[in-house]
Amino acid sequence: MRAVDIIIKKRDGLELTKEEIEFFIQGYTRGDIPDYQAAAWAMAVVWRGMTPRETTDLTLAMAASGDTLDLSAVVPFAVDKHSTGGVGDKTTLVVEPVVAACGLPVGKMSGRGLGFTGGTLDKLESIPGYRTDLTTGEFLRQLREIGLVLTGQSADLAPADGKLYALRDVTGTVQSMPLIASSIMSKKIAAGAQGIVLDVKTGLGAFMQTLEEARELATLMVQIAHLAGRKAVALLSDMNQPLGHAVGNALEVREAIETLQGGGPADFREHCLVVAAHMLHLGGKAADEEEGRALAEAAIADGRAWEAFRKLVIAQGGDVSYVDDPDKLPAARIVKALPAPQDGYLAEIHARKVGEAAVILGAGRTRKGDPVNHAVGIVVHHKVGDFLKAGEPVMSIHADDEASLQEALSRLDEAIVWQEAPVEPLPLFYGVVA
Ligand code: URA
Repeated sequence: MRAVDIIIKKRDGLELTKEEIEFFIQGYTRGDIPDYQAAAWAMAVVWRGMTPRETTDLTLAMAASGDTLDLSAVVPFAVDKHSTGGVGDKTTLVVEPVVAACGLPVGKMSGRGLGFTGGTLDKLESIPGYRTDLTTGEFLRQLREIGLVLTGQSADLAPADGKLYALRDVTGTVQSMPLIASSIMSKKIAAGAQGIVLDVKTGLGAFMQTLEEARELATLMVQIAHLAGRKAVALLSDMNQPLGHAVGNALEVREAIETLQGGGPADFREHCLVVAAHMLHLGGKAADEEEGRALAEAAIADGRAWEAFRKLVIAQGGDVSYVDDPDKLPAARIVKALPAPQDGYLAEIHARKVGEAAVILGAGRTRKGDPVNHAVGIVVHHKVGDFLKAGEPVMSIHADDEASLQEALSRLDEAIVWQEAPVEPLPLFYGVVA
């Protein structure tokens, strides 16, 4: 078999066999197939798509590229959650400690920023010392000891996704249902959680722009989970406007800390409570979502969720004084407010454009392996439906240099749409795929 023939076959819209998919994934993981061939293949998949059978084979080949953990040897039942990617989506930072504080172990492998969307690992690395490269042994030990792990792919867990994810980020090959489904589900299968809650985003700042596409992706991922013997549920959630207020690594960590301490933006808090409720129900800690929500609220109210987050930071080598005193987290040199140009209602805050502006500021990558700037980002002070008077700040831009600030400002200029007539607020969720 030759990699080039597999690329050509997919370029021509033909269905790949299981053997061809395995050959390609194994070759790429070992380094026999170079990045340029993997990038060409990924672009062919973006254009030609894959059948559900190919996507399932791709997922299983990527999961099998490293170890597959069996968490039942360590804890009775572990849950995990994963988002398909959004702007201002710091949900993991809140729901994982909340759920762990309710007595349900959570073991998660997260990702880095992808395209215009942020990544949990980049956010966590705003905390000096926080390790996102735990070995399999460390993952299992920490899960047993504190019931909470939040790390990245290691050389031994889904390494194929680790390589492909970084390549897709900078080759315009993120937006593809089979590539997203296989990326997410290979990590979930390798990390071994028996229950998985998928947060499938839809809208202007999501990879799936329409509800139909999001539902299709959700259904595909739930089917793959079942095939791999896992319990799974997918929530269809809004990503037309950023979630919460903060977009950018350290800014989002601050907002997650506020939420874990009982404050935080109302939409973000509500989103987290719903996701946590589903995790607790799936993991058998709650009879239904209502009870799960009550448990989650209690864990935030009495400080257990916050303590779980501190324990996580300490366990993974982070300097906990930075979360105890978030003013120590990286901060940008320039903070510029963007005022409302007129009285009016906010009709649109285009999440993708806000995400792109954050990448321009340095919060994400434009080349593989680039460092990210943890300090920079955007705080959107309002939500769609809010009324503002001319001159009131809509957003604050946190930048480290004048050139990126100006470029981000011109991108953000196109992100806001005003309307004189009242505007309905956006919903948070559109449905559930079980
Ligand atoms: N999250 C992932 O882990 N992979 C994707 O492709 C998109 C979101």
